[in-house]
Amino acid sequence: ARSNTVAQAAGKLYFGSATDNPFLNEDATYKAILSDNTLFGQLSPENAMKWDATEPEQGVFTFTNGDAIVALAQANGQIMRGHNTVWGSQLPSWVSDSGFDNATLISVMQNHVSTVIGHYKGQIDGWDVVNEPFNDDGTLASNVFFETIGPTYIDLALQAARAADPNAKLYINDFNIEGEGAKATAMVNLVSDLKSRGIPIDGIGLESHFILGEIPTTLQAQMEAFTALGVEVAVTELDIRMTLPETDALLAQQQTDYQTVVSACTAVADCVGVTVWEYTDKYSWVPSTFAGQGDADPWDENLEMKPAYDGIIAGF
Ligand code: XIL
Repeated sequence: ARSNTVAQAAGKLYFGSATDNPFLNEDATYKAILSDNTLFGQLSPENAMKWDATEPEQGVFTFTNGDAIVALAQANGQIMRGHNTVWGSQLPSWVSDSGFDNATLISVMQNHVSTVIGHYKGQIDGWDVVNEPFNDDGTLASNVFFETIGPTYIDLALQAARAADPNAKLYINDFNIEGEGAKATAMVNLVSDLKSRGIPIDGIGLESHFILGEIPTTLQAQMEAFTALGVEVAVTELDIRMTLPETDALLAQQQTDYQTVVSACTAVADCVGVTVWEYTDKYSWVPSTFAGQGDADPWDENLEMKPAYDGIIAGF
């Protein structure tokens, strides 16, 4: 069975993957698998649409890499998600160390959101407009936008996004919100407050960078708590990392864990799809970020399907 085919048969919009330009340019086999829309119905740009990539100097926009991924998705008949416009990381220093005053940073941020989302108008299904706004304790994370503008930076970013592409679904995306806890509650409170004040918000992205054997038992309940607010949810960056070296027992647990996550999305009507944060261990961000861990994806370093793939199929 084919992962996107079964996702759509289960009523989902897609099963998808993140991808990045260096891999697409250098690895034809990788690109051919990614381009098979029976496997992947959706692409996310792993880095190409982030602020440091799209506006490296103030007012100088570069869309070459993002455009290449959009063109690939369109050629393959795949949906695109946009990722992301306002985040405290991967910011050029002209933004993060600017010392811009409140009014100037508001205008810089609005211009960035309008220009990037406007460039892709009509071509993106859902945008991670605001990425990772929370600390684990549920307070708003300290980044240049929060420190300079205050919590209304979120309102202003979402309003600029809606104006730039009225048909794109506008998301807030974060990690450690996939199960009940202070951070998930803070997301519920934020989205409910945004909706009560008429600020546009359509979706909550559950990143889902999980540790093997530690899928939150409240994942489905948390998805339901989010969709009860009147927004959709998506699993936006799924990977399930293990402490290396890999063993057959770990691969079997990983299969179970992938099935658990996908099943939760299948069970929740307004969970629209599942995206893995790279489909293959060959190009995963995990080993360089979490020392001693890896093999988090459903295809191995040789671009062969792992037991985790069967877990995905069983979950839809
Ligand atoms: C990661 C990319 O995978 C890496 O290539 C990059 O060096 C750092 O960012 N949460 C997010 C993603 O929202 O943008 C991050 O992607 C992973 C964590």
